[in-house]
Amino acid sequence: MDRNYAMEFVRVTEAAALESSRLMGRGDEKAADHAAVEAMRKMLNNINFEGTVVIGEGERDEAPMLYIGEKVGRGDGPKLDLALDPLEGTTICAHGGNNALSVIAIAEEGNFLHAPDVYMQKIAVGPDARGAIDLSASATENLKNVARAKKCYVDDLTVVILDRPRHQELIAEVRKAGARIWLIGDGDVSAAIATCKRDSGVDVLIGTGGAPEGVISAAALRCMGGDFQGQLVFRNDNERARATKMGIQNLDRIYKIDDLAAGRVMFCATGITQGTLLNGVRYFSGGALTHSLVMRSASGTVRYIEAEHHFARKPKY
Ligand code: FBP
Repeated sequence: MDRNYAMEFVRVTEAAALESSRLMGRGDEKAADHAAVEAMRKMLNNINFEGTVVIGEGERDEAPMLYIGEKVGRGDGPKLDLALDPLEGTTICAHGGNNALSVIAIAEEGNFLHAPDVYMQKIAVGPDARGAIDLSASATENLKNVARAKKCYVDDLTVVILDRPRHQELIAEVRKAGARIWLIGDGDVSAAIATCKRDSGVDVLIGTGGAPEGVISAAALRCMGGDFQGQLVFRNDNERARATKMGIQNLDRIYKIDDLAAGRVMFCATGITQGTLLNGVRYFSGGALTHSLVMRSASGTVRYIEAEHHFARKPKY
């Protein structure tokens, strides 16, 4: 996978961010998502590659664009698989909150887990705690091991958890263990990536969120040298059947980071609303500023790209 593709794909997340950020705070989640999806798809279809959406907007019968299995790209380059979320944090964007992102992860064919759209129990940490996490152990055990690896006390750790009723017991356990908690309304991809950024103040992401977001987070953390584990969570037999149909054989398996995103991976994200990792889109007369993150697992290089877009000079796709 040519390293120059990283620059091609950041244009894709920039375009999705530019379109959806126009709808920030308008209270219309669907419209914001639709704007991001359309822009992302148009840009993808201008890149010379043979792409397949592996993690996307949903199954073919429920998503008209960027559905799982959709072929994208000009069809005349390498075969690459995509795990994407044109607008990660639809509610955040609709409310004008923090940390809505446009994200895309790219791998050579066959290297992403084909995760169904169910929940996933997750734990994510940065490079200094790589190897210290184990989803089969309790949250308390994990926090003790992460603190040991980071040479600090459990009380020093900041743990991000999605603020959901399903996390009541987990929150009580983490409080008992003594760690600080940052409850977030949405956007666990941004929180997972934040564990790898030294000045983010985030040490651990723990709890249950979307499985597709889990694969995307694992791809990002592969590039940043962090660690991630995930286990699919099913609410009913229909979800179990969907997973089986998508080729998941062991429904109880705990996936390690390489089981979710293997081989050489690239990752691009652009901030839509203001966030911990990235600034949101900011407009000026005739244009806008975007802030993006571009990384490759092969080199481990993490680039932040601030781009100035002048609408009068932008090509029309
Ligand atoms: P969307 O962008 O699809 O709305 O996802 C936002 C999100 O908060 C994810 O970051 C997270 O993994 C998932 O939703 C949690 O799901 P739920 O809102 O059902 O608890």
